[in-house]
Amino acid sequence: MKKLLTSILSLGVVCSAALAAEPVITAVKVSESLDAVKADSAVWSKAKFETVTLYPQTAIEFNDKKANELTAKVKAKKAQVAALHDGKNIAVLVKWADKTKDLQQCLTSTSYSDGFAVQFAGATKKAEPLPYIGMGSSGRPVVVHLQKATEKVYEPNGNKDVAMQINRQQTGVFGKELADFDAKVAALANTDYERVFVGEGFRSLTEIKDGSVKSNSAMAHGPAGWSGSLVRPLKDEYVKLGGTVPVSIAVWDGSNMGRNGLKNLSSWVAINLEGQKPNAAMVAELSTDAKGNAAKGKEAAMMNGCNGCHQLEATDAKSFMGPALHNVGGYSTAAYLRESILKPSAVVVPGYNRNAHANTPWYNIEKGKRVSTMTDFSFLDKATVEDIVAYLKTLKAEVE
Ligand code: HEC
Repeated sequence: MKKLLTSILSLGVVCSAALAAEPVITAVKVSESLDAVKADSAVWSKAKFETVTLYPQTAIEFNDKKANELTAKVKAKKAQVAALHDGKNIAVLVKWADKTKDLQQCLTSTSYSDGFAVQFAGATKKAEPLPYIGMGSSGRPVVVHLQKATEKVYEPNGNKDVAMQINRQQTGVFGKELADFDAKVAALANTDYERVFVGEGFRSLTEIKDGSVKSNSAMAHGPAGWSGSLVRPLKDEYVKLGGTVPVSIAVWDGSNMGRNGLKNLSSWVAINLEGQKPNAAMVAELSTDAKGNAAKGKEAAMMNGCNGCHQLEATDAKSFMGPALHNVGGYSTAAYLRESILKPSAVVVPGYNRNAHANTPWYNIEKGKRVSTMTDFSFLDKATVEDIVAYLKTLKAEVE
């Protein structure tokens, strides 16, 4: 009896660990304005935190041996995420553990800072399918708010040349001239590394620099790790957020060489705006388990040769024929995985360096468009596709 019980219990653990879908977050409606909300604002006591898992993004190999070695070891992280809205703005707070406080350095290219990003789906006529996580996809833009941890840098010429810095006492000016100098330093000082990007596919992330996005993000480090807050309008020329807001959260760990592509990120997570009608289909898509049979899906993946081009599990050999899929289940929606199987060219994930693998390019250019070299599997029957999707959803790193 005892043996049976333990095996039933362990079965339960395996199933829930493999299938656990993401939570739905409620953005609590508050009466006070969120215009100036920060990570430590009192209003956050009204928020309800949910645990979201952030997976290492390992699809792309870097042109850098050390980065590849480190990425192979990165585990998934848990973050506590909450949201608020005031009818005009949405605010998101992310808390995650990180023992070391790594700040953005001006003069080195080998050290990296901690940071976080919150991503929204850009405004399109139809909210679904959701854009490709991280970069967006053609016709499906994403808006990414990025905040890196920084310290005030005294930088009078704006070029980040620390050697050129002039001490206030060395200026030899006073009175109005000194006041002008101080104003110039304040204007040029690199005090906040906050950036907003729009992207519509790989290598298309473009920074919005004209101030047309009224957002504010900030980070604070404490004994438990980082808190990062972001507040932005529910509606502007880039996004139209209402009802259910899909977001994705990413965090960078500077001491683990976290940078550009090397980050932990969540799948799309649904935030329901309290007091508004949720998008039931989107909530169901983002928060329920894949319907297929993962064990059958694994067999079907082998039978159809997916492993010929892809590294499927972390212990499998690497492949240059296609992206590594051992974390793809963590940050991808079932809809995205289904589309990858049925329409490989809908979103084309480029190899990190197409020239390095001239014989095995991941895409070709036909009439100016990227066409995937992956086999088109639209001949598979529906049930098999759902089984493979359920299997792919189990491919993800364990939580640290
Ligand atoms: C002939 C080689 C080849 C085979 C066989 C193949 N793939 Fe792919 N796959 C690729 C390439 C190349 C890409 C990257 C270009 C793209 O996005 O289509 C890719 C991309 C993907 C992606 C997107 C990965 C990401 O990081 O977003 C998924 C998911 C995927 N394949 C699943 C499968 C599954 C499941 C099978 C088997 C049913 C399969 N592939 C068979 C070559 C292949």
